[in-house]
Amino acid sequence: MRVVRLASETDFDGWRSAARLLRAEGAQPAQVLWTVDGGQASLFPTEAAKTRVVGAEGFKVSRTFVDLASRVALHRSPERFDLLYRLLWRLEATPRLLEIASDPDVSLALDMQSQVNRAAHKMKAFVRFREVETAGAGEAFVAWFEPAHRVTEATAPFFTRRFSNMAFSILTPDVCAHWDTRALSFTPGADPADAPAGDDLEAYWRTYYASTFNPARLRTATMVREMPKRYWRNLPEAALIPEMTRAAGDRTTQMVEKAPSEPARRIVRAAQRASRDAPFDGAAPTSLDAVAAGVDACRRCPLWRDATQGVAGEGPLGARLMIVGEQPGDQEDLAGRPFVGPAGQVLDQALAAAGAPRREVYVTNAVKHFKHEPRGKRRIHKTPDAPEIEACRWWLDAERRLVRPRVIVALGATAARSVLGKSAPIGKLRGQALQLEDQAQAVVTWHPAYLLRVPDAAAKARAEAQFIEDLKLAWSLAG
Ligand code: URA
Repeated sequence: MRVVRLASETDFDGWRSAARLLRAEGAQPAQVLWTVDGGQASLFPTEAAKTRVVGAEGFKVSRTFVDLASRVALHRSPERFDLLYRLLWRLEATPRLLEIASDPDVSLALDMQSQVNRAAHKMKAFVRFREVETAGAGEAFVAWFEPAHRVTEATAPFFTRRFSNMAFSILTPDVCAHWDTRALSFTPGADPADAPAGDDLEAYWRTYYASTFNPARLRTATMVREMPKRYWRNLPEAALIPEMTRAAGDRTTQMVEKAPSEPARRIVRAAQRASRDAPFDGAAPTSLDAVAAGVDACRRCPLWRDATQGVAGEGPLGARLMIVGEQPGDQEDLAGRPFVGPAGQVLDQALAAAGAPRREVYVTNAVKHFKHEPRGKRRIHKTPDAPEIEACRWWLDAERRLVRPRVIVALGATAARSVLGKSAPIGKLRGQALQLEDQAQAVVTWHPAYLLRVPDAAAKARAEAQFIEDLKLAWSLAG
């Protein structure tokens, strides 16, 4: 029996190098025992094995396997490293093994990957920071979170991008992540037995800090030189991160998501396959719930990385009118709903003026993840590019097939490109009915965010009137 001791529960790199060596040595899965002892990784590569690794380079695993394995490694199942080694072993004889979804090992690995992705998503969506006072040393933000799987290290970079100018700590039972606005570092997990609730978080954080950063323990920590002074110096401004403070007073984690339905699970898996095999070859979603789950799990373009969640459309199945915007904005990204921010208010008012109740309209976007770049403490909208619009059209097409609107209103150039399949000058095309291939008609018009930006008062009034006229036209065509 070969015993491999990995350095930590998430030591995927350790697993990878050990697995490579063992594979080269011809060690059967049943002969290998994978353990985690938290100490030094202690694989015993023999000289013979090292030599054979060179010779074994002919056996290369696909990027797909590496991506899958790196997620499965974060699962809490004690079987995960075993399973991965078994898959690795079997891939040599069956290179297309991962395409056989009915294979028990493959299906288990895909399920585990899906659960890990879900845990990472929940972490992105539900971590709630609390501003803490730091006795004369400034302020900082802290959150307590208990992820279903070991996703903290993998998900922490998302928070550093999102809150790049904020010093924060995310405490979890597995590992604690700390961002001082320049460097991300990790310390051992906090004790779940002492999990703070509500108002106790601040006191708990202080105690945690006092023990974690005590000089004796710090001598060996890589972040010693940085902490704690630099960490404490950065003073985040709560007003700029409304969702951070919104949940203050509540327990810091909230798991409110419903268990996914079977169709939703299927589409999640299909979307995960899409991340591996473009173009997308998964089953078309058969319900709007499945679209929502699929959008959220979608990896067809890189925009998911920096977004909180995918935002699918909302409105009744069978709505006569569908409105397509560009992409979720900052507020939509946080709320998980389309058109709830300033542009949404303009849209709501115009719909009311056109006599079209929003509750009877299906409202969605051409691109389902928020594309943005950080500027200071804000996230600045960036226009999606053609490949992103193309990649996301799969979801808009699914919504069109399911909702079957009689009329589709495209708001602005991105939506027009997605709905019409080519770029279209809004100024020239607006105000008329355009025939689409699926029997529906389209009306293109200004994007409400554009109306908010027009500087000249007269031009603004003209564009607003045209916007309402176009919505009226669409609503009457849909009638
Ligand atoms: N802008 C859009 O295009 N869509 C939204 O959902 C919000 C703002």
